[in-house]
Amino acid sequence: MIEVKNLWYVYQPSGVVALRDVNLKIRDGEFLAIVGHNGSGKTTLVKHFVGLLKPTKGQVLIDGRDIREYKISQLAGRIGYVFQNPDHQIFAESVREEMSFGPRNLGFSEKRIKEVVEEVAKTLGLYEFLDEAPYNLSRGQRQKVAVASILTMQPSVLIVDEPTTGLDWRESIQMMELLKKLQKEGKTVIVITHNMKVVAQFVERVVVMARGQILIDGQTREAFLKFETLKNAHIIPPTSYLLQPYLSKFINVDDFTIEKISAELIKKLRREKHANS
Ligand SMILES: Nc1ncnc2c1ncn2[C@@H]1O[C@H](COP(=O)(O)OP(=O)(O)OP(=O)(O)O)[C@@H](O)[C@H]1O
Ligand SMILES: [Mg+2]
Repeated sequence: MIEVKNLWYVYQPSGVVALRDVNLKIRDGEFLAIVGHNGSGKTTLVKHFVGLLKPTKGQVLIDGRDIREYKISQLAGRIGYVFQNPDHQIFAESVREEMSFGPRNLGFSEKRIKEVVEEVAKTLGLYEFLDEAPYNLSRGQRQKVAVASILTMQPSVLIVDEPTTGLDWRESIQMMELLKKLQKEGKTVIVITHNMKVVAQFVERVVVMARGQILIDGQTREAFLKFETLKNAHIIPPTSYLLQPYLSKFINVDDFTIEKISAELIKKLRREKHANS
């Protein structure tokens, strides 16, 4: 449903070439991560999906139609983009106001706005904070407010730029579980992240970018074993993947979580003990 064809983007007036001939297809209902070193072009790429940037060369198609044929309001109701830093997005006096802004702009009735705001607030655990000022909340809660304010527009595609930056591990897991839940409910979810552990744990498909290009696009469990290419993109996969070439001599793992690896190792040790006794 989102298709990128030979996309180039050059920032002006600096002339920085941020995207170089990028090709990508994202299907309905996918959970996809875009990873890459600072400045590799991740944010520049997704800003094209919501019309915030226009291709210098090439095309972005939404449901087969060139994005230039859509009005910004049509796109906003379809594809939601949560900014890299929640504090660049949040501006209202209260959480409720912040969450009402998008749907009000899209012309939802006040009754519908109230319903949708309260429903989303409940799902995200923000209900009790609806009348709070966003700047009184923690970084993790503000991140949720940023996501919530986009979800109230009920987009079918949700793009979240760095959803776990500034969050601790427990909050990061909560955020990722929330995104996974939204995907299970039928949304397409695209996350941009520097956190390879959460990618390994939650995301099926990963796109690795470097210097404005896509170096790898595939299933996470295959992508994270391409050590040479990852090194070239300055990405270090989770330890469980780095250990795989050694571990595969002893055990058969198809799931590179520490839990699975430990379980397999314990099984093997038990079998050996049993055979020796
Ligand atoms: N507004 C801008 N004007 C000029 N150059 C820019 C602008 N925004 C980004 N760039 C440049 O474009 C390139 C890609 O930047 P982009 O922000 O897309 O990278 P990113 O992968 O999102 O990085 P990060 O992980 O740091 O968020 C970088 O070289 C960056 O310096
Ligand atoms: Mg970025």
